Amino acid sequence: MNSEELLQADSKIISNALKIRFYPITVKAAKGTKIIDHQDKEYLDLTAGWAVANTGYGDKRVADKLQEQYEALSFTTQLSAPEENMVHLAEKLISIIPGDFEKKVWFGHSGSDANECIAKLVPLSQNKPRMLSFMGGYHGQTLGSMSLSGHPAQSKFIGSGNVVKVPYPNPYRPLFGSKENLTGNIIDFIESEVFTTISPPEDTAGIVVEGIQSDGGLVVPPDDFLPELKKLCEDHNIYLIMDEVKVGLGRTGEWFSFDHASVAPDAVVLGKPLGGGMPISAVVGRKDILDAGTAVHMFTASGNPLSSAAALETLSIIKEEKLIRNAKEIGEYFSQQLCELQARYEIIGDVRGKGLAIGVELVEDGETKTPAIEETAAVCYRSYELGLLVYYVGIHSNVIEITPPLTITKEEVDFSISVLDQAFKDLEEKKIDIEKVRKYSGW
Ligand SMILES: Cc1ncc(COP(=O)(O)O)c(C=O)c1O
Repeated sequence: MNSEELLQADSKIISNALKIRFYPITVKAAKGTKIIDHQDKEYLDLTAGWAVANTGYGDKRVADKLQEQYEALSFTTQLSAPEENMVHLAEKLISIIPGDFEKKVWFGHSGSDANECIAKLVPLSQNKPRMLSFMGGYHGQTLGSMSLSGHPAQSKFIGSGNVVKVPYPNPYRPLFGSKENLTGNIIDFIESEVFTTISPPEDTAGIVVEGIQSDGGLVVPPDDFLPELKKLCEDHNIYLIMDEVKVGLGRTGEWFSFDHASVAPDAVVLGKPLGGGMPISAVVGRKDILDAGTAVHMFTASGNPLSSAAALETLSIIKEEKLIRNAKEIGEYFSQQLCELQARYEIIGDVRGKGLAIGVELVEDGETKTPAIEETAAVCYRSYELGLLVYYVGIHSNVIEITPPLTITKEEVDFSISVLDQAFKDLEEKKIDIEKVRKYSGW
């Protein structure tokens, strides 16, 4: 099949419920940081397939491990007969997650089913029905994870009614006016309004939060936010749950985004990059959360030997190949270079991030900060034409997301900057065919 035939077949028989498209790419192969399409054109991938390919595509170590594992034991359902890879993986995850208390691990296949685990088990473990989460948060598309989410992607459905959403501190767009006391204003709002009205602490089991709101627009909260949120939870006997599905496992320049704030959550949700491309998710948390019920959240292939073996190898690669350090150093360099672009293009309102989780927010003017939605789509489209893959995110669909494999090099950053520079220039000079861009609705 050539690209066009593939796209036509996909359009005819693959459900639109699965699609969020930004340009007409098809993927034939991928290696390292590069993707090859069906015309054999090569692209540098700054998406890592929505932050999955952290260790790069087609790593030989993972490939060998998978072959070896498939030949030795292709499958056992861990629900009824455990094997070693899953248990070793659980031990490994417990060893890298802080928290001086007894922990257990649950396994699934996606960020959604792992957050579904939180939605079910946290209220059950605390014997309290309610949960809090944040506007702009993205936790998944199943009923429970969708109910925890506060992102427009889930707004077509009414989730379960036990979750109250509160504002997330956004330094670029402070909700309560003042930029000064962003964290304090939100903590006060929860304590003096939410707790005294619709979600009293004695009925609130947990607060679910992303350390950086990624699909919400790469929003980086102030440094005091997570420590203050943790304190609030401790003061009111509420569990703090960190959703690290997208930014966890090294992307921010630490193992986890909460490591920057030295906070130990009661449970951590993992997914996306954990399996090096194989589907696997996990919740690592307090024993009493994960033992709240027996046989209450299980999937036949949970923790299957192939995904678990791939995950073990992926964690070793992150450590041995010093990818966390690379994420920090190359991430800083990338952000600096983007700030230089910002100085040259007025449309770039904000550049922010940690390590290799970077957002570039586009606005029509710096004063009103009106989201430059179509322009954002156009820059992504033009970059694709020029051989660079980026997507956009954000509750206003105006933030270019930069989440490349953590193996990316300085030379590849320089190439990325040259492409983005060209794309912004073409946008300014109205050289991008906006009709082509409009066919792709993205979010
Ligand atoms: C923070 C976060 N949590 C959960 C999910 C859902 O993960 P999945 O798409 O694997 O179900 C996502 C997906 O983007 C995410 O970014």
